[in-house]
Amino acid sequence: KEAKLWGGRFEKGVTPAVEKFGQSVSYDRKLYKHDLMGSRAHASMLAKQGIITVQDRDAILNGIDEIEKRIDDGKFNWRADREDVHMNVEAALIELVGEPAKKLHTARSRNDQVVTDVRLWCRDAINDIVQRIKYLQVSLVQLARENEGLVVPGYTHLQRAQPLLLQHLLLAFVEMLERDASRLLDCQARLNFSPLGACALAGTGLPIDRHNTAEALGFTEPMRNSVDAVADRDFLIELLGANSIIAIHLSRLAEEWVLWASEEFGFLTPSDAVSTGSSIMPQKKNPDPMELVRGKSARVIGDLTTVLVLCKGLPMAYNRDLQEDKEPLFDSVETINTVLDVTAEFAQNVVFNKDRISKSLPAGHLDATTLADYLVYKGIPFRTSHDIVGKAVAIAVSKRIELKDLSLEEFLRINPVFEEDVYTFLGVENSIAKFRSYGSTGAEPVAEQMKFWISKLGM
Ligand code: ARG
Repeated sequence: KEAKLWGGRFEKGVTPAVEKFGQSVSYDRKLYKHDLMGSRAHASMLAKQGIITVQDRDAILNGIDEIEKRIDDGKFNWRADREDVHMNVEAALIELVGEPAKKLHTARSRNDQVVTDVRLWCRDAINDIVQRIKYLQVSLVQLARENEGLVVPGYTHLQRAQPLLLQHLLLAFVEMLERDASRLLDCQARLNFSPLGACALAGTGLPIDRHNTAEALGFTEPMRNSVDAVADRDFLIELLGANSIIAIHLSRLAEEWVLWASEEFGFLTPSDAVSTGSSIMPQKKNPDPMELVRGKSARVIGDLTTVLVLCKGLPMAYNRDLQEDKEPLFDSVETINTVLDVTAEFAQNVVFNKDRISKSLPAGHLDATTLADYLVYKGIPFRTSHDIVGKAVAIAVSKRIELKDLSLEEFLRINPVFEEDVYTFLGVENSIAKFRSYGSTGAEPVAEQMKFWISKLGM
């Protein structure tokens, strides 16, 4: 049995159960690229500071290249008895190049090493997520483009409220996604500081140059406080929080589309390519991918919760508990990536059923608020016009007709201010044509929004 890298003071090895329990290499090997990056920067700095010789440095750097190649090619022997990615790499490097490799861990601890790796990994992961967000935004704007002019019922309390252009509704999600991306980029800017050289928790007496390694690794600056550097995981909470918000936005989109795909709504039909059937009911065609998008939000929130609870009771500084931060991190990022991709794919494979939607528009008096605005134009205080329109609605409801089918006499019986021009405010088409405030669902404001996104997304 191989001696542990930390084995000097120990007389006996750990039990198999403890070894298996403590290993993290089965999942933290994902960090190997960033671990090697960190080691390259660290070795170069040690040589520059005269702590190791340039010959040692070159032996280490060549060894790291070789190890990277072996890992890339799937030829690296990952060993659970070497615990984690860091010690797997270091032990393999010592096997490969001998004595010089034993100097790599000078003025470094796994505590600063691991969190350096994780920060570097998150920095890249964020760029990747942001790209996928943009791709989904493009897919949604494209879907909006294909449905120009389509009016749909807008809901509040899931009761019919006012008409909306479908484009407007879709662009609402594009806006949410834009903030999601900017939240991730804020988080990226805040996490891009180097913990390397904080060592175990206290820093070191050796003449290292933390500014040098920070710069070599593309960090803004070294972290100012070594305890903070190894102990805190707020950047993970932030990233997992940002992912949770994305997941919730997509879950709401998913819920809407699942609802719209129902027989009762019938507003939307997913193509076969994004639907699945039932093992017993031959007629079924289910929007499963969107249900899963909704469902996966649970695990993304769970990942955030795990890291929050993980950190809440930890004394300063590093504690082994923190090893448990990696699986939720990887799971959250992986899940959010697939959820973004699948939602984009779904958006590329849905058809809005214009007939069903327009046949449904007369129901629910979507034009009632526009009628209240009409009365405002006639000089009636809004609170009074609300009441007048309420009476008109009550009549329409009792006669099971639309507001536009009420006769002028009927309107005049409610209030003498009505004139023939009232009919230019009634009906969904007339109603939606009246919207013009900034950010509203009117044709012009929506065209403005479309123009903004098409240019911003380079479409
Ligand atoms: N695998 C460990 C982690 O993920 C690395 C740091 C271990 N440090 C230690 N002193 N045991 O946190």
